[in-house]
Amino acid sequence: YPTKLVLGIETSCDDTAAAVVDDTGKILGEALHSQNEVHLKTGGIIPPVAQQLHRENIERIVKETLCVSGISLKELSAVATTVKPGLALSLGVGLEYSLKLVDKYKKPFIPIHHMEAHALTIRLINQVEFPFLVLLISGGHCILVVAQGVSDFLLLGQSVDIAPGDMLDKVARRLSLTKHPECCRMSGGKAIEHLAQQGNRLHYELGAPMRHHPNCNFSFSGLHSNATRIIMQKEKEEGIFQSKIYTNCTPDLWLYLQKPLLLTISLGLQEGHLLSCVTDIAAAVQHAVALHIAQRTHRAILFCIKSGILSQPNATLVVSGGVASNQYIRRALQIVTDATNFNLLCPPPRLCTDNGVMIAWNGIERMRAGLGVLHSTDGIRYEPK
Ligand code: KG4
Ligand code: ZN
Repeated sequence: YPTKLVLGIETSCDDTAAAVVDDTGKILGEALHSQNEVHLKTGGIIPPVAQQLHRENIERIVKETLCVSGISLKELSAVATTVKPGLALSLGVGLEYSLKLVDKYKKPFIPIHHMEAHALTIRLINQVEFPFLVLLISGGHCILVVAQGVSDFLLLGQSVDIAPGDMLDKVARRLSLTKHPECCRMSGGKAIEHLAQQGNRLHYELGAPMRHHPNCNFSFSGLHSNATRIIMQKEKEEGIFQSKIYTNCTPDLWLYLQKPLLLTISLGLQEGHLLSCVTDIAAAVQHAVALHIAQRTHRAILFCIKSGILSQPNATLVVSGGVASNQYIRRALQIVTDATNFNLLCPPPRLCTDNGVMIAWNGIERMRAGLGVLHSTDGIRYEPK
């Protein structure tokens, strides 16, 4: 019999999301507005644009969530909202809106750490007891932690540079995959997974990062540089060049910039065409990312076993984040968990990427554990930027 109802609000990056979840783990209602298409056009997230889109959508998303769940604001036990980490401008929209709600309806407020929410999502679906190992891989995150309690995490490793999703997005942009007829509307990672299925991963070799670093950290910028080098070489061979669009130039500068452009045209190079070997490059990139993630996770599992932090046969590896929806990467991790006698669990794809459900569920977990529930928001201030 549910006794708690939490409204979760998420605006840390480029998704405006909300959900109402009860303490039995039932999702009563949820809604999400993705800004992905806008950001695809600009080739990345521009924070003030993201902020504006959150502002335009937050009220509608929260109202839709409440409407679907048939719950009024008065009936809620608390409001839980992501307060960190993320883009400051985006986070501010969710926080400002939430503070207005909790002040108006006199509800407790639960500030949520976005990563904690990702890590705990699995407990809404499966009965996983602490401690368990979590691998979070997305566009903004790459960490390996042991979840020891609702807000008790042991950090084993993280990316020393960029996250794997960020790397996949950069390679996809460099390959102009938004112009590819089959994957124009997909995220970079999804487009690479899609094309990799038709490619041969053995045609290009990207190497294994951090081979001489005996720890559980990750690195993806070296793989990104290697992929870029291969792409540039291929573009040269196929007579393709990438021009940058220069706006706001003075006429002199514009003329100067036109010169190399005219030169390339007279050399017979084509602008912005797709490479013939995108599928092979996608397959090689996906393989290198999967191998690196699997190797570092393997090391973390062995460390957990040896140090007695986790013991089989009931030890679990939870994999979450947008990149976790990649089936090739999942298969690589399945090989690792089979070999070490761990269970591999992944939340369903819609709960792997940013969503409101995980924030609401984190609120439930925190209420149950008696952690971080604020009954007055006097000390919290939103500073408009
Ligand atoms: O968790 P998420 O929605 O947002 C955060 O970054 O927090 O993850 C988005 C990332 C993007 O970089 C996207 O390219 C990647 O997840 N992604 C994938 C796949 N689907 C999304 N990467 C690899 N394979 C996929 N199927
Ligand atoms: Zn996230």
